[in-house]
Amino acid sequence: MKKILITGATGHLGSSTVRFLKEKVSTEQIAVLVRNTDSDLVKNYKHEGIDIRVGDYDNFESLTEAFKGIDLLYFVSGSDIGKRLPQHKNVVKAAVQAGVEHVLYTSTVRNDESEDAPLFPVVDSHKQTEDLILASGLNYTILRHNLYAEVINMFIGDKAQVLQTKSIYLPTEDGEVSFVPRKDFAEAEAIILAKPEAYKNVILEFNGSEQVGFKEVAEKLSAVVGETIPYISPEEGEFRKQLAEVSLPQEIIDMVVMFSLGIANGEFNHKTNDLEKVLGRPTQSIADFLKETYA
Ligand SMILES: NC(=O)c1ccc[n+]([C@@H]2O[C@H](COP(=O)([O-])OP(=O)(O)OC[C@H]3O[C@@H](n4cnc5c(N)ncnc54)[C@H](OP(=O)(O)O)[C@@H]3O)[C@@H](O)[C@H]2O)c1
Repeated sequence: MKKILITGATGHLGSSTVRFLKEKVSTEQIAVLVRNTDSDLVKNYKHEGIDIRVGDYDNFESLTEAFKGIDLLYFVSGSDIGKRLPQHKNVVKAAVQAGVEHVLYTSTVRNDESEDAPLFPVVDSHKQTEDLILASGLNYTILRHNLYAEVINMFIGDKAQVLQTKSIYLPTEDGEVSFVPRKDFAEAEAIILAKPEAYKNVILEFNGSEQVGFKEVAEKLSAVVGETIPYISPEEGEFRKQLAEVSLPQEIIDMVVMFSLGIANGEFNHKTNDLEKVLGRPTQSIADFLKETYA
């Protein structure tokens, strides 16, 4: 019986992966890594018989302890991009030290790895983590994720905000994205966790079945909300000025600009269908996702 540890289990992706995995393996096989045990979600995991391991990517010793007896590690990338690389070094080193057999790592798709690419900080931290894993001697499955469909909501807001601004205003030009709803990543990754031998030492590119730019997102969204929502792609400077005027925090502005310019630079325009193959079906369509989110 392989023991599987899900990191990021209090977050959106990790918690969804736990839910799918519970349908495929026995609960005794599942452990979750959490930073603190106080939330209802963690209490619920405990109640369900899931093994709770406490650890922080910043704390190497906590990870070696948490990884004891784990065969298969589902390693969700850290959310703090500035701290990601030292954190990820801790995770990989601790996995080796604790005798983990196989690691699944949630990386990113990309096209441009150059230092002057808009998404360089994101791409580089993932690329360096992949290199660490490949050099570690661990068995691996690298899961290069395209953008979450939920990023659309993060960028343009909820239905009330869309109906107020009556436009999608983002400097993504005509860049296309193969968006994937998080739950499709989670379902596919639970399939792999339940049958890791079939996916040993491979790099998979997880793209949505459809490629759309924000012009198309705006058209589909217009149909859902029943109003015409035009798409406007401003110049970066003008975009930053507009966001600063509505008092958005600088780090949020920088993040939205970085990803928008990354989209414009074609980082997420990928068509490889590894995700369809694992799922055995296409990913949720953007029209359906928008209906579910904005109707
Ligand atoms: N492909 C995309 O479009 C996209 C978009 C956004 C993010 N991402 C990446 O995908 C990851 C998962 O996404 P998500 O939506 O599930 O994010 P999320 O909901 O913010 O969850 C992040 C998870 O990582 C845990 N975590 C953060 N820092 C940690 C640390 N130092 N030590 C241990 N655990 C830590 C969090 O624990 P706590 O509950 O304790 O905070 C949480 O469980 C993100 O972390 C980010 O790297 C990808």
